[in-house]
Amino acid sequence: MVKLVAMTHADSIPSRSLSGLDSSQLSPLEQAKQHLIVALDVPTGEAALALAAQLEDQCQWFKVGLELFIAAGPAIVEKLAGQGHSVFLDLKLHDIPNTVAAAVRSAASLGASLLTVHAAGGPAMLLAAQEAAAGLTAAPQLLAVTVLTSMDRAQLAATGVAAEPAEQVSLLAKLGLESGIRGFVCSPQEVAAMRALTGPEGVLVTPGIRPSGADKGDQKRIATPTFALNQGASYLVVGRPITQADDPALAAEAILFEIAEALGVAPTE
Ligand code: C5P
Repeated sequence: MVKLVAMTHADSIPSRSLSGLDSSQLSPLEQAKQHLIVALDVPTGEAALALAAQLEDQCQWFKVGLELFIAAGPAIVEKLAGQGHSVFLDLKLHDIPNTVAAAVRSAASLGASLLTVHAAGGPAMLLAAQEAAAGLTAAPQLLAVTVLTSMDRAQLAATGVAAEPAEQVSLLAKLGLESGIRGFVCSPQEVAAMRALTGPEGVLVTPGIRPSGADKGDQKRIATPTFALNQGASYLVVGRPITQADDPALAAEAILFEIAEALGVAPTE
């Protein structure tokens, strides 16, 4: 287990967790945990729960994406939340406003803490999603997905979008903000620009994270935890570097260690 001690260091990373806790009152290890989301990209509920159990001491947050949700159903969200974990439900909702609003309410009833919607669904859909969340006592924080990182200029153009990807990201981010959505999923390269748009209240969730020396997998636009946090990321989504490691708990600890350093806390050993 990595042991961490606090250093007196003011940092620019938001210290408030979604729960409203002031994370500076938490131990250094717990502070680092508040910024790490492990992507449970596995094909069955059993595999997801086994991984969550293996990572129990290192990880508070788990991401349930389409693969796992379709295989294991809403019960996997309820189980993880019931075990005290925080769940990022990454379903990238994109449908008519009424349907998306209803889906936001359903996700809230499962216990999800973060939920993605596609900003490309348009202002009416984003507003309906935000209003649905605002009407709930325990609503998930909505995160708008702007342009998928798999979309380049040619892919966008094929869908009738003539803008450069970066311009489209900015346009969709502004749509989200105008609808009252304060959370975004963004690549490490976009975090600084997105932080400038959202200000300190923005919740910026960043995949494409690789600790130094790690296998890139199929991710192209990657960055280290330190880079992403220094650019203004609130949460780092890490999948394969942890889930496919020989020892996932050890891999998670190494990432927590790096997060703690970026947050301004230091390990003793
Ligand atoms: O295994 P890896 O660390 O690449 O996993 C990253 C996770 O973040 C995956 O669940 C992937 O679907 C998700 N994601 C991403 N890039 C985006 C949006 C989401 O990698 N732009």
